[in-house]
Amino acid sequence: MNTHLVIPNHEVQGVIELLLSEGWLSQTLRIHPHESEEFRLVPLDSGAPQNLPPPLDQYPILVTEGKPTQNRRPTWQSVLEELVGAETIEEYESIWPASHEFIGDMMLLKIEEEVRIYEEQIVKSKMESHPHVRLVLEDRGVKGEFRVRDLRPMALRINGQIKHNPSSDAVETRVEVRESGNTIICDPTLAYYSSRLQTERIQNVIEAEALREKIGAPIAVADPFCGVGPALAHLINRQHLTSQILASDLNPEAINILNDNLRRWRGCNFVEENQTKLQFNKDIWSGIQDARELPNNPDLLGRWNMLIINLPHLFSEFLPLLLPLMDVTKPYVIRGRLVCRHDEIYDKHEQLMQQISSPNAKVVLDPRRDYSPITSLCSVTIKNS
Ligand SMILES: C[S@@+](CC[C@H](N)C(=O)[O-])C[C@H]1O[C@@H](n2cnc3c(N)ncnc32)[C@H](O)[C@@H]1O
Repeated sequence: MNTHLVIPNHEVQGVIELLLSEGWLSQTLRIHPHESEEFRLVPLDSGAPQNLPPPLDQYPILVTEGKPTQNRRPTWQSVLEELVGAETIEEYESIWPASHEFIGDMMLLKIEEEVRIYEEQIVKSKMESHPHVRLVLEDRGVKGEFRVRDLRPMALRINGQIKHNPSSDAVETRVEVRESGNTIICDPTLAYYSSRLQTERIQNVIEAEALREKIGAPIAVADPFCGVGPALAHLINRQHLTSQILASDLNPEAINILNDNLRRWRGCNFVEENQTKLQFNKDIWSGIQDARELPNNPDLLGRWNMLIINLPHLFSEFLPLLLPLMDVTKPYVIRGRLVCRHDEIYDKHEQLMQQISSPNAKVVLDPRRDYSPITSLCSVTIKNS
């Protein structure tokens, strides 16, 4: 028996994109119609969490016999087994890189040292089972203040041939990705971008739309750690959802790519090629800016209805600094992520409530995945109504 999501036909495409970005769509079972014909059954991978995050948690689950895919492409596990033998597969059973992340036609994966000697076989098996992948990069984690991933090219597909260990100069890492119908340019070697945060970005849209209803007018959204702008892509491109936008980041490379994205979303004259400093243009503040200094700009104080803080290690440090940006005369929403010890979630919740210090505030801390053996990465929603 296999777990399936029951999805209305017209929502299937969006759900597939989300599940693919998380690696939660079954590779061996196929999507098939539900008996009611208005719905489809979308099979989940065995690695998908039992409690799916929003917006996936709104769909009913049906456990039923899955239908094997007719696609005869082998799974990466079966290719790897052919290459290294069943005994080796068993020996390192829980150590092989089961998950990977797609960014456009690139695949990012983490490799444990115990299976390093099988790197070529691992990469070959992943590329054979995912023929759209052009480049495989080893993800050695995010580094430094800009949270840019340390990525090493492991293999490049050229004219159907796999070249192992290409030099960094020989590979193109700037790509376009699609999220919910939006095109986003990114280069994960220069600025932070993760396709795994799509569920968070869709939840931002749900919160933003509810807030617009409450306020009765388009909302002003500030994203002072915007990176290349993926969260804004979901908000900015919706009709009548936003009024003003603040899109800033400390990383000049992120702002460079953000400007290309803004030109694409708002028209080619939107920002000049070499604009770097924070500037206001056609309802959008954008540019390089240390978020610590934003409250020094009187034009930015008391005017925002939604704030996005995607800097998980420093969320609670930045929250009190950035609160003066909020328009407290109206309901507001703050969304973000934070890292917290498993046994300190209650204390963290209390700390955030104190920082907001409003009797109408509601804080929801939702642990989404383990960040380390003792810490969780939590999704945060603060509402003041
Ligand atoms: C985890 S990334 C999130 C980027 C983007 N919001 C996204 O979801 O893709 C955090 C971002 O915060 C930026 N950052 C770090 N410290 C900052 C600061 N003091 N002021 C402004 N941006 C900062 C980094 O350069 C990085 O792009």
